[in-house]
Amino acid sequence: MKIAFIGIGQVGSTLAGQLVALDHTVTIAARNPNSNSVKTALAKYPALQVASPQEAIAPSEVIFLATPFAANQTALAEVGNLSGKILIDCTNPVGANLTHGLKSEQSGSELVQSFVPDAKVVKAFTIYGFENFENNTYPGYGNLKPAMLIAGNDTTAKQVVSNLCQQLGWEAIDVGNLSMSLHLEHMTLLWIQMARVQGRGANFVWAMLKR
Ligand SMILES: NC(=O)c1ccc[n+]([C@@H]2O[C@H](COP(=O)([O-])OP(=O)(O)OC[C@H]3O[C@@H](n4cnc5c(N)ncnc54)[C@H](OP(=O)(O)O)[C@@H]3O)[C@@H](O)[C@H]2O)c1
Repeated sequence: MKIAFIGIGQVGSTLAGQLVALDHTVTIAARNPNSNSVKTALAKYPALQVASPQEAIAPSEVIFLATPFAANQTALAEVGNLSGKILIDCTNPVGANLTHGLKSEQSGSELVQSFVPDAKVVKAFTIYGFENFENNTYPGYGNLKPAMLIAGNDTTAKQVVSNLCQQLGWEAIDVGNLSMSLHLEHMTLLWIQMARVQGRGANFVWAMLKR
């Protein structure tokens, strides 16, 4: 699959590196091909390709958005037409003192969708720190896989994202429409509190037990 990344920092480079290792064609949509984040990603994952934002996006079926939340609108305006593309929103609106950055009145992903109304936005790869995107192996739990909760309005797009999650070793769990992203964003805040503030560290994820 042809995949592009807008933002290639901690989250973007980690996911791009995992996907290129699975033989996907992964291109960095680089506003500056000589930036530190592009150079660092290429040094770690030499199979990544680099192109201008428009050149990277045009042939790609799936685009990851992994920019600081405050940069989303500018970053999306630079890349051109996303009509019909699947846009995986990895961003989180994080406010002061780990509150919701949009005061819990609207999800960040719905705001992203408003910037690109013709794209199929799916929220995914947000509820844990990037460390778990690099390594999601938790031995000792048999066939139980770590859960990746996703949300979006387009069923076909969510199926594509679920398949990518499964290839990356996650159990994809579709929690509903994009408005459900608000709850995922609060899960993220909980994870950050537990991992980074309370000091548990990054090496834990959620799983779903069913009966
Ligand atoms: N860090 C985590 O553990 C984690 C986990 C899940 C989700 N998230 C979310 O994922 C997003 C990215 O986090 P991160 O930790 O990967 O950030 P990061 O390491 O700071 O990387 C941000 C990337 O976005 C690029 N960028 C910044 N402004 C841009 C703009 N206006 N246009 C295009 N690209 C721009 C940066 O490029 P330059 O280097 O050129 O500035 C860099 O490649 C955030 O929304 C965060 O909330 C983070």
